[in-house]
Amino acid sequence: MFEYLVPQPPDAIIQLMQACKADTNPDKIDLGVGVYKDAAGSTVILDSVKKAEEIYWHQEKTKSYVGIRGNAEFCRLMLELMMGADHSAIADNRIAVAQGAGGSGALRLGAEVIKSAAPDTTVWASTPTWANHIPLISSAGLKMESYPYYNRETLGVDFEDMLDHLAKHAKAGDVVLLHGCCHNPTGADLSPQEWDRVAKFMKERGLIPFIDLAYFGLGRGMAEDTYGLKTVIDICDEVLVAASCSKNFALYKERVGLIAIICKDAATAEVANSQLGLIQRKLISMPPDHGASLVEKVLATPELRQIWENELTEMRERMRGLRQLLSEALNVQGGEVIARAVKDQNGMFSTLPLSKGQAIKLREEHSIYLTNSGRINIAGANSSNIPRLAEAILNVL
Ligand SMILES: Cc1ncc(COP(=O)(O)O)c(C=O)c1O
Repeated sequence: MFEYLVPQPPDAIIQLMQACKADTNPDKIDLGVGVYKDAAGSTVILDSVKKAEEIYWHQEKTKSYVGIRGNAEFCRLMLELMMGADHSAIADNRIAVAQGAGGSGALRLGAEVIKSAAPDTTVWASTPTWANHIPLISSAGLKMESYPYYNRETLGVDFEDMLDHLAKHAKAGDVVLLHGCCHNPTGADLSPQEWDRVAKFMKERGLIPFIDLAYFGLGRGMAEDTYGLKTVIDICDEVLVAASCSKNFALYKERVGLIAIICKDAATAEVANSQLGLIQRKLISMPPDHGASLVEKVLATPELRQIWENELTEMRERMRGLRQLLSEALNVQGGEVIARAVKDQNGMFSTLPLSKGQAIKLREEHSIYLTNSGRINIAGANSSNIPRLAEAILNVL
């Protein structure tokens, strides 16, 4: 049987990580994989999480299954964190919710629910989008199309093109995948005014927003990073949200995420909950619990929550600071357009206007590792190597 398997190319980002690891240049800069790194280049466990783990170690009495839709208290606290505790959709029980295995698992659960509800739905994704969006969603059997988003010359969002394209080609009932903040791979986000317009546009055309919230808290702040989500939920009757705790709680390998389906009424949400349970059962039976319980503990314990908020602020401000430094260094050396974009964009990523050849040149001649698409993870830089990074970017350009 297995001799018929077709070999698959190795994952590009893993290859990049391996190449960087093998590079003996002590001044190499790793801007590849999408994990947060501190100034020493480490992805540490957050103090708040460590403390929660200690408490949990003493309190946990069983490793028995939690339930098909996962840890209900984690889900409740996460909804309140994203939407505000007093949001009417929560009070009205209009939200079906389940724990997913990371943001990826949540996206897949959302896609499966769409497939069960309306199999002919097309899901629209931005150009470009996170590379894994396409396989995750289309392997649920859904059709996918793309809409224009990032302009590689202005390094901003082509907002009017995006709306024009969707107006012409998307039909009522289609789903539009939107990055809630910190767009991956570009860092170019919608402004609050653009979110207002998108929400109204979706409502008027009967389009259903699917918000991917993988980096909230790491862009401009918790309120700013959830503005789009809240606006869309306030205006549209039906919304899907896939949230991840991989980045903002640095819980990558624990696989903590959540799918929320905001429905028109409580009765529909109850049915959607039963579908989520059925789908989870078919896919993985029960979600993992450890990471979700740690998030629950952090959010529910005021002292730990305060520590986490401080840690989140520190991660966010370090990245904003690095963006500022890189922007200044590029500006001084004549790269005004990139300088402005890098400063204005949010989160870990920016996509620089580099060709594949230029990205390879950065790797081979400067020991600077980034994807061939020109995406950099700003957290991989530090204040001492920023001038060299700016010089190398402008040099290959
Ligand atoms: C845009 C986006 N969505 C979702 C995810 C999923 O993250 P995870 O499954 O690790 O929680 C990622 C991870 O890189 C991402 O960049």
